[in-house]
Amino acid sequence: MLLSLIMIASEEVNLMTTKNKVLNLLNQNPGKVFSGQAIADHLQISRTAIWKAVQSLKEEGFAIQSLPNAGYLLSSHVDLLHADTIKSQLREEVAVFVHPFLGSTNAEAKRMLSEGERNDVLVLADEQTAGRGRLGRSFFSPAKSGLYMSLGLVKLAPQMDPTLLTTMAAVAVCRAIEQLTERNPQIKWVNDLYIDGKKICGILTEGIINLETQTIDSIVLGIGLNVQLEPVSMPEELKEKMGALFVAEEPTITRNQLAISIVNEFYLLYSQMDKNEYLEEYRSRCFVLGKQINFTRNKEYLEGMATAIDDKGALVVRLQDGTETTLSYGEISIGWTEGAAK
Ligand code: BTN
Repeated sequence: MLLSLIMIASEEVNLMTTKNKVLNLLNQNPGKVFSGQAIADHLQISRTAIWKAVQSLKEEGFAIQSLPNAGYLLSSHVDLLHADTIKSQLREEVAVFVHPFLGSTNAEAKRMLSEGERNDVLVLADEQTAGRGRLGRSFFSPAKSGLYMSLGLVKLAPQMDPTLLTTMAAVAVCRAIEQLTERNPQIKWVNDLYIDGKKICGILTEGIINLETQTIDSIVLGIGLNVQLEPVSMPEELKEKMGALFVAEEPTITRNQLAISIVNEFYLLYSQMDKNEYLEEYRSRCFVLGKQINFTRNKEYLEGMATAIDDKGALVVRLQDGTETTLSYGEISIGWTEGAAK
């Protein structure tokens, strides 16, 4: 009895492993046909095991097509987030979790880190039901349209500045998009990405304070990137402002590829952060420099010219009265409204 239970359990583990391996292979080659024998040879697993794994994946909803006398392929239009595919291509050791839906990936990553997770984590969701934006706003996160992910960083360097991590993440997302597509996003200080005048990505950085030491223990970088949006499903108030990586065409890349590239670029920048070189790149990608801007500080409406980004990632503004001020957080708008005639 015990032996047969152990055998069933081990068969299930094998099936899971085979499924993951098959999915990894098909996922990395969307649209490419692999014969059952080719997969079996590649993975050193029997054809029967491959067949069982494919059937099981199909039952789970993966869009794998079986072409008679040819083999299997994963439809290139199907973009499924897959934890193993992502994890296997990351340059750092990160625990990856994919959920069909969550309230917020930031909330989930924060929960994991506050409950004692000692490794960096990457949490992704196909859909967020309570996606969080900056300044207490919500972030529209419909199913399968965007990449909603949170990278939880532990073992932070002492005195780590969250603003710098945010600027680093913005550069990493720009680089990833440029590596994988023909698009050239620009940054609106501090952490919004724009293409053709519309916001395509927002970043929400949240710290977890260690109550004993009163220092920031770990940080969650939440990235929301609109990959493809159905304009019909968009809330009316967002239609004018919200853009996406692919607007009138089918995406040519998968969200797995984007997640991998963003996280790898981020770790690359993070490992070189003492050089601060990425700030130069941030400045060159930031489209607010040299522009007239307005913002509200302590309930006071102010206007000025954005002149620089300092070495802490803060925005230097020359106000209309000629004085200079520095913004290390908050939000700015481009243009002058109240004082435009001055
Ligand atoms: C903003 O533009 O105001 C920031 C938006 C950040 C959204 C992302 S989506 C993944 C992560 N989880 C959240 O709840 N928010 C961030």
